[in-house]
Amino acid sequence: MKKIHHRGTEGTEGDVGAILVSPVCGSARGIRARAPYIIRAESAIIGTTRPRASEKRAMPTYDHASLIEQDKRQLHPLHHPSRAENPAMVTSGEGVWLHTSDGKRILDGMAGLWNVNIGYGSRELPKVAYEQMLELSYTSGFAGMSNPPSAMLADKLAGFFRPNMNFTYFTSGGSEASDTSFKTARFYWRQLGKPAKTKIISRLNGYHGITMAAMSATGISKYHSMFGPLVDGFIHIPDPNGYRYAGDIEAGETVAQAAARALTETIEREGADTIAAFIAEPVQGAGGLVVPDAGYFELVGQVCRDNDVLLIVDEVICGFGRTGNWFGSDEYGIAPDIMQFAKGVTSGYIPLGGMQVTDEIRDVILNAPAEQSWMHGYTYSGHAAACAVGIANIDIIEREDLVGNSQRMGARLLQGLQGLADEFPNIDNARGVGLIAGIDVVQSKEGRAADYEAANAISDRAMELGLRARPLGGTIAFSPPLCITAEEVDIVIETMGEAIAGASGGVSD
Ligand SMILES: Cc1ncc(COP(=O)(O)O)c(C=O)c1O
Repeated sequence: MKKIHHRGTEGTEGDVGAILVSPVCGSARGIRARAPYIIRAESAIIGTTRPRASEKRAMPTYDHASLIEQDKRQLHPLHHPSRAENPAMVTSGEGVWLHTSDGKRILDGMAGLWNVNIGYGSRELPKVAYEQMLELSYTSGFAGMSNPPSAMLADKLAGFFRPNMNFTYFTSGGSEASDTSFKTARFYWRQLGKPAKTKIISRLNGYHGITMAAMSATGISKYHSMFGPLVDGFIHIPDPNGYRYAGDIEAGETVAQAAARALTETIEREGADTIAAFIAEPVQGAGGLVVPDAGYFELVGQVCRDNDVLLIVDEVICGFGRTGNWFGSDEYGIAPDIMQFAKGVTSGYIPLGGMQVTDEIRDVILNAPAEQSWMHGYTYSGHAAACAVGIANIDIIEREDLVGNSQRMGARLLQGLQGLADEFPNIDNARGVGLIAGIDVVQSKEGRAADYEAANAISDRAMELGLRARPLGGTIAFSPPLCITAEEVDIVIETMGEAIAGASGGVSD
C-alpha cells in the first residue's frame, strides 16, 4: 500500500507516497505555497528542483524505470494494455515540444488529442486557474446557483459562433456534450408535441465519444464490438469520403451528392416523424481524417431543414481554430441547431466542453412546464476554474492570432504532405484544412487499399525520430498545436519523409 502524502507532510528520501500537485495547502486566500512544493512518490521521484531558464520553479526529476513500473497500475484508454507497456512518459512541454522522463524530445504533431491548441507550457492559464481556485474552485450550477467564470464564459460565447446561438451549457468533455445534444434534441421534439422523433442519424467513421449514447453515434465498429448492444435509435449512414466512399454512387453524382442522398433515403425509410437529429463533424477526425467535398454540408443542411431534423455539428476537434477558422462550420457554411465543443476551448489545460443551442431551442427549454424540466446536469457543469481557463484560453487564441497561424501553417503542412504523396508510391490522399491534416498509406495508388501495417510502422518510426503523428487505420493524422512555426512544420515533413523512407525500405518514386 502506498501512503498519500498531502502538503505539509513532506517526506524524507525513501518515504512512500503519491504525487501531490496542489501548490497550496489551504483554500484561504493569502496562504501561499512554500516553494518548492515537495512531491514524493515511491522511488519514482528522486529530486525536487529543476529550475528553467526563464523562471525558477521547483519541479521534480523522475526515475524513468520506476515510473514505467508504477504506470502499469493504470488502465489506459483504448488499445490492448500491451500498447502501454513502455509509454512515452511525458513530464513537460513547451510550444509543440514534449519532454519525456527518459530524456527524449518529441514534436507533438497531434497536440495531445487534437486539443492543445495554444501549445504546451503556457504560464498564463495555470495562473488563471490558480487565482480562480484560491477564490472559488467550484460550486454547483444546480438548483439556482452559479459562479462568475461560467456566467462570463457563457456571455463571451453568446453569438460568438452564430448570431442566433446565444446560450451555452457546459460539460467536462466531448462525450458528455454528445449525450447532452442528443437528449436536448429529444426534449425539443417532445415539447413540440412530437415525442416519436427520437432517432439520431450519424455517419460511418464519425466519432462523437465513448459514453453509451455517444459511442452509439460513433460510427467506428471497433468501438462497439465488445460493448454491445448499442443504444436503440442510432443509425449510421456513409460519410462523404471522396477517396473511399462506402455507399453507392449513381451515374453523374458527386460523392457529396451521394452522401446527402443517403441521408434523404434514410429519413424516408425511417420516417421523418421518428428522426430527432443528424450529427456530423465538419472534418471527421478519429474516423480517418475525412475532409468533405464542397457542397456536402449545404446539401445535408437542406435535407435536415426539409425534414424537420435538427442538425447537430460536432466541433469538438474543429472548434477554436483547428481548421484555420474559429469553427469548422465557418469553412463549410454550416448553420446548425446545436453545436457541441470541448478540447480546444481550454487547450486541454483543464477539462471543459459544452453545447450551444439556438435561441429557439433555448426558448423551448425555458418555456417548458416545471414538471417537464430539462432534467440534465453534470456535477462539473460550469466548473468555475475550468470556465476561467476557457475565457483566458480564448483570449490567447485571439491575441496571438492562432486562427490565422492555423491557416498559414496548415497550408504549409498540406503542401509538405502533398510533396510526400508525390514522392512515395505508398503515400496518397494528402488532405487537410488548417492544422488538421492526413495522408493515407496504401498498398498501391491505383487500388487505394489501406496498408495498416505500414501506417503503424511509419508512425512508430516517426516517434523514434521524435515526431508524434497518429495512425488511424491506414491514415496518418496531423493536428499540431496552433502555435507551430514554419520551421517546426518543416521538421514534421522532413521527419515524416525519413520515417516513410525507413519504414518502406527506402522506396520512393
Ligand atoms: C469529434 C469528437 N466528438 C466527441 C469526442 C469525445 O470527446 P471526449 O473524449 O472529451 O469525451 C471526440 C474525442 O476525440 C471527438 O473527436
